[in-house]
Amino acid sequence: MPIQSICCLGAGYVGGPTMAMIAAKCPGIQVTVADLNEQRIAAWNSETLPVYEPGLDAVVASAIGRNLHFTTDIRAAIAAADLIFVSVGTPTKSYGIGAGRAADLRYIEAAARLIAEVSEGNKIIVEKSTIPVKTATAIKSILAANSPNGATFQVLSNPEFLAEGTAIQDLESPDRILIGGEATQEGQAAVEALVSVYENWIPRERILTTNLWSSELSKLVANAFLAQRISSINSISALCEATGADVDEVARAIGMDSRIGSKFLKASVGFGGSCFQKDILNLVYLCDTFNLPHVAEYWRQVVHLNDWQKSRFVEKIVRTLYNTVNGKRIAILGFAFKKDTNDTRESAAIQVCRDLLHERAHLAIYDPRVDATTIQQDLAAAGVDPALIITNVEICSEPYAAVTGAHALATLTEWDEFRSLDLPHIHSLMLKPAFVFDGRAVLCMEDLVAQGFEAFVIGKGA
Ligand code: NAD
Ligand code: UGA
Repeated sequence: MPIQSICCLGAGYVGGPTMAMIAAKCPGIQVTVADLNEQRIAAWNSETLPVYEPGLDAVVASAIGRNLHFTTDIRAAIAAADLIFVSVGTPTKSYGIGAGRAADLRYIEAAARLIAEVSEGNKIIVEKSTIPVKTATAIKSILAANSPNGATFQVLSNPEFLAEGTAIQDLESPDRILIGGEATQEGQAAVEALVSVYENWIPRERILTTNLWSSELSKLVANAFLAQRISSINSISALCEATGADVDEVARAIGMDSRIGSKFLKASVGFGGSCFQKDILNLVYLCDTFNLPHVAEYWRQVVHLNDWQKSRFVEKIVRTLYNTVNGKRIAILGFAFKKDTNDTRESAAIQVCRDLLHERAHLAIYDPRVDATTIQQDLAAAGVDPALIITNVEICSEPYAAVTGAHALATLTEWDEFRSLDLPHIHSLMLKPAFVFDGRAVLCMEDLVAQGFEAFVIGKGA
């Protein structure tokens, strides 16, 4: 049976954009995105979407009201759907067994119980969230034990590989679509039904089908490999600084070897985002659970190196500013975890700002997309005393206001606009010596030195 009606539980960074793309590309399918969060749903139905993503507004506008709907009526959305994506959060567990490593699956379980309760007839349930391998077994067991109306279910795994900031191009032209299903006749029919949805715009040869466990595990492994490349190049950034080598030149030289490849070799103050750390810790926990301590330890190092990269950046600032930043104004350019997003989850900027505030610095923070409330909430959640946030944090609406009267400037997100800052003007606005700490290598070391700055650029030897 061709799919006519799709529902997605979770209208977040994945559910919203992914379903908008499906609706835009499949005008014959009704797509309803359902969420418990009324504010979020109201925002999806407004002119100001809850997610900032280049190109997203146009995709949503092309389908909303036609075959794309956002609702809080989750039960009705489930009841009407042939196929249900589960795209709820799977954060790191903060309590009990596996705290700090395991995935917290309570939202997945609650979604499965609600689907079981409401459903009638045959439904395909698709894991879109990132989950530990074997979660499909738990979902199947919950569905089978809790269906008063005798509904039957096929469970598929279809992890999402989009990156924030490039979500629309990633969804429009993905490297691959991965679908895992059971080897039974019904399982394969469900796989084919989902394949036919994606085939509306993605060539069949880019749609990969596997068994359930390979699909679930591949998502964690893909993120672990990507994050591992960043920690690898960041480890080399420290060696470059010590030896006079240039990490961008090294990355270019090794990246031209087609066996290594050029992507994901940009040294930084540390990777952030809601997923890399969470998914690696989840992988580490899985390895420990399956009694593979050597494998667990290997992947744990990727996160350790990332933590070290963030703390050594702060240490560099404090040591360079004559071992004290107490009372000094430091301009922070960029708070989002990467450019072209308003998302700050696990942003390196949070840890850097927290540690500078604990050193009693005054921070003047500018980010083109992140609002003041988010910055204040993130710092409070990271353990900064709310009183210190009031006295020592100023949120600026443009970069030149942030640098005025500052002892130092630190770039923490690679926003394109930072590449064309007016350096002579900035130098004139800052106290002297004017220190720059570029955690994203968006500024040119030679230009900074020529303008009279005392400059540190990540991965560049003096
Ligand atoms: P998010 O926190 O932005 O959104 C999750 C949404 O699910 C929230 O709005 C929440 O209210 C809603 N929700 C929770 N329980 C629900 C229920 N029972 N019914 C309906 N809605 C419910 O999370 P996200 O960033 O969209 O990530 C979702 C999943 O996708 C995670 O597992 C994540 O690891 C994975 N993922 C995220 C990205 C990314 O770029 N953010 C990329 C690939 C995969
Ligand atoms: C990442 C993956 O790239 C996606 O494929 C995956 O779907 C997603 O996680 C997920 O599962 O959530 P995302 O975190 O949105 O996507 O963004 P990335 O482009 O991967 O960047 C992650 C972090 O690494 C950012 O802080 C970025 O600045 C940093 N980064 C990235 C570097 O420091 N250097 C690089 O070379 C690349």
